[in-house]
Amino acid sequence: MKLYLNTDLAQRYADAGLLEQERLRAKDIYRELTAAGEASPDWGVTGWLHCEEAAMQRAQIAEKAKEIRENADVFVLVGVGGSNQAARAMIEALDTTGPQILYAGNTLSAWELARTLQKLEGKSVYINVIAKNFETLEPGSHFRVLRRWMSERYTPEEMARRVVLTGTYGSRLEEIAKENGYLFLSFPERIGGRYSAFSPVSLLALAVAGLDVEAFVAGGSAMEAELAAEQGGIAAEYAALRSALGQKDYAIEMLAAFEPRLFWAQSWWKQLFGESEGKDHKGLFPATMTNSEDLHSMGQYMQEGRRILIETFLMVDDPGAELRVQPDKAFGDRFDYLDGMDFANINRAAEKATIQAHDAGGVPCIQLRLPRLDEETYGRMYYFFMMACAVSGKLLGVDPFDQNGVEEYKRSMFSALGKPKN
Ligand code: PA5
Repeated sequence: MKLYLNTDLAQRYADAGLLEQERLRAKDIYRELTAAGEASPDWGVTGWLHCEEAAMQRAQIAEKAKEIRENADVFVLVGVGGSNQAARAMIEALDTTGPQILYAGNTLSAWELARTLQKLEGKSVYINVIAKNFETLEPGSHFRVLRRWMSERYTPEEMARRVVLTGTYGSRLEEIAKENGYLFLSFPERIGGRYSAFSPVSLLALAVAGLDVEAFVAGGSAMEAELAAEQGGIAAEYAALRSALGQKDYAIEMLAAFEPRLFWAQSWWKQLFGESEGKDHKGLFPATMTNSEDLHSMGQYMQEGRRILIETFLMVDDPGAELRVQPDKAFGDRFDYLDGMDFANINRAAEKATIQAHDAGGVPCIQLRLPRLDEETYGRMYYFFMMACAVSGKLLGVDPFDQNGVEEYKRSMFSALGKPKN
């Protein structure tokens, strides 16, 4: 089912002529990105454009996932940034089955890793290490620790079944897989981490969690077709509006959701836009709110703080559960006005009221409606945001596919840790 973008409220804050110009530019950029094929200067980084092509090795993944689901108590997903966020966002939000899924390779905290190891004790463990070029410190260091932990408990033959590595062909990770007989999955060379949702980077974890990989890829493909039929459609529209507002005094985009289980999807979005656009001192700063909790903190700032914020509401039509407030006259708690009401309606009323209040308070409010939270919708949503982000970055005049800025801190960290220079 389709996603709906409503920009009516936010458009009032943009300069109408500029918005029209950005719409035309956004459509041109969309056409260039999608049409040029190998002749395109972006060819080397746009392997994500066709979901079906990105979602390679599906039969192999399904077979391995079956084995893992039959044998594992715990599946550890080792990766950071684009190498774990898309899968985690779905696993944490949808109804999963199968082994417990833990995350590693995404922190350097001793406490976190020690706690993860404690959780593995006495369990049947499988791991998937995902690292595009296998140079990132977090997954590399955690793989060492997990490898040692596993080798003390399993024979080399047993280890070979329990370790899956995902990286680029020709990387050291592929060599390690060959040397040890581990299954190796492709991290496609032409896909960057934060655009890798439909590739094997995510697919094994989704399948291990019992999620419907085919429905997910079909959702992405459906959005791909919809945008193609409408020359960028809602992705181009969202990008154009962000650009027109960004050229005024707006500096921050708040992605607000009233379903807490969208927390990791918001985190995925933050990484996608932050790493793609924050360059040359440009870009809207991506921030997130989980409501209604954050209405009791950041809600104050949204309503009355500096008018530098735009807000995008990630709304869900189907609440996924029905729960009513039971009448309780005798108790006298003064909440009788809620008697018989469904929490879905109460939550929706809070969402509507927040949009009205923030709009009245001078915040351009965009609404993105998702029909329900399932695999297909995540597929549509990921593709929508990835395309919007690529177009938006190009409207801004930055390269949405590189991340030179994250190398800065690494230089001094590696020198402090004594890493030899290549
Ligand atoms: O989007 C990106 O490219 C990054 O966020 C990477 O995914 C992240 O830095 C992890 O990289 P790697 O898979 O090489 O360890």
